[in-house]
Amino acid sequence: MNNCRTVLLAGSTGTIGRTVLANLLKSDYEVICPVRSISQAKKNKINNKENVTIVVMDICDSGFVKEFCENYERVNVIISCIGSRNGTLKESREVEFEANMNLLEVGEKLQAEQYILLSAICVQKPKLLFQKYKLKFEKALKESKINHTIIRPTAYFKSLSGQIERVKSGKRFIIFDQGLTNWFKPISERDLSLFITKKILKKTAYGKVFLIGGPGPAINPREQGKLLFKAANMSERFLSLPSYSFKILLFTLGPFGIFSQKIRDLKEFLRIALYYATESMLVWDEEDRNYTDKKTPEFGNDTLEGFYEKVLKPSTKGVELPDRKLFG
Ligand SMILES: NC(=O)c1ccc[n+]([C@@H]2O[C@H](COP(=O)([O-])OP(=O)(O)OC[C@H]3O[C@@H](n4cnc5c(N)ncnc54)[C@H](OP(=O)(O)O)[C@@H]3O)[C@@H](O)[C@H]2O)c1
Repeated sequence: MNNCRTVLLAGSTGTIGRTVLANLLKSDYEVICPVRSISQAKKNKINNKENVTIVVMDICDSGFVKEFCENYERVNVIISCIGSRNGTLKESREVEFEANMNLLEVGEKLQAEQYILLSAICVQKPKLLFQKYKLKFEKALKESKINHTIIRPTAYFKSLSGQIERVKSGKRFIIFDQGLTNWFKPISERDLSLFITKKILKKTAYGKVFLIGGPGPAINPREQGKLLFKAANMSERFLSLPSYSFKILLFTLGPFGIFSQKIRDLKEFLRIALYYATESMLVWDEEDRNYTDKKTPEFGNDTLEGFYEKVLKPSTKGVELPDRKLFG
């Protein structure tokens, strides 16, 4: 066994996880990446390398802890970048809570020094099930013996890319209400993964919760649309939809949820849509009872404007679209 530090990286096939892995490869770490399918790993170009071990193990599985600990005897740091892919009620519980609990148990058994959890800024105002499970795990992590570092970022660039194709094809940019009430400080995947890797084994990051945005100032959906039209060199055209339409749909579906899991999942999806159409992704100031741009820490250099310019260059082949696409 050499003296290299070993990192257990969960979620290495995801947007942030694979960027974190790329950063780790530039440093002197041994990395173990449990993945649930080898084809998903291959699709994301996650391969075995000298310092990287890809292992097919389902972290949601009840046998994960035993299987992992039988195969590996040392983990110094756990980095969890997992997140529910579709936001269903079952996945929220399994991924946001149970899988992280399994990882924590591995960490405790193998006496890991640090657990870095990628959470989300929106857990400050928890209304959705996935946020409640994230918070439930944050609490368990804080109460554990392992040093915790919790990172709660604002919206990623990919989450603000869902309308690029729409706009390119000449359609209008959709905003809810006037698109002026909810604000965010988008952060690039590259900047966020750098922020995460900088916290590895940093004692000053132990026991801390970091709320983090990208370079400011904060923007709202109307300004986001303007940036997109500018980068596409097209005149601005907006389609304004009332956010209360989600409330009407939720009310209409109300009684049917009793009979069908699919309808309960659809209702949760509508709640997610309503949340992102109306809430800001900034620090919540409890005293002012409002979100605050000023108190939202900034990190990195990549701007959404620069990102849109890059992806809309005629030579650019494409951009990863958000997983939960609300409109296209
Ligand atoms: N998107 C945003 O704007 C935003 C903002 C703030 C915080 N966040 C949080 O940041 C975290 C990472 O986000 P991301 O966009 O990088 O996520 P992502 O691209 O959706 O990747 C999710 C990762 O979790 C894994 N995963 C999902 N369900 C699983 C399951 N049932 N069993 C095992 N693995 C599973 C995925 O594996 P597979 O590849 O096998 O599916 C993938 O590696 C999430 O917790 C998210 O809530 C996101």
